[in-house]
Amino acid sequence: MIKINCLLIVLFLFLLGCSGESKRKPDKAEVLKKGAELYAKYGCAVCHSLEGKEIYGPPLNEIYMKKLKVIRNGKELEVIADRKYLKKSITNPRYEKVLEYQNKEMPISNFSEEEAEMLVEYIIALQE
Ligand code: HEC
Repeated sequence: MIKINCLLIVLFLFLLGCSGESKRKPDKAEVLKKGAELYAKYGCAVCHSLEGKEIYGPPLNEIYMKKLKVIRNGKELEVIADRKYLKKSITNPRYEKVLEYQNKEMPISNFSEEEAEMLVEYIIALQE
């Protein structure tokens, strides 16, 4: 009898262990916290407001999935500001430029892949 009880306890602990930690995605609170830290660390706030005001660059709230006009290789294009677009504008600001801001420069920052992803998630989380 004692053996069976032990077995059940071991099984219970095993299941408990499996349910918690498997494929954990950062939740929204975590994205907002870490994103804000990176946003401050890399000085994004110097140029980008998150309240719709224009500072130097375009405000970054409410841009996710917006239709935008950009310049790429001297050609005017219409794009949707999806995840991929946001990532590219953060990691490679020279690739495309927002049409209205084509004469302004965004500096190239050196961050990790993980940090770039987090900034993208942050911009999206701000409006969800
Ligand atoms: C010196 C000012 C400056 C800083 C600092 C800066 N940016 Fe920018 N950013 C700009 C300008 C100007 C544009 C528009 C021109 C362009 O597309 O390159 C832009 C464009 C963008 C866009 C595309 C916006 C749109 O409406 O399509 C994103 C996203 C962005 N920046 C994110 C960031 C993030 C995240 C940081 C911090 C890591 C940052 N920027 C730091 C000036 C800046």
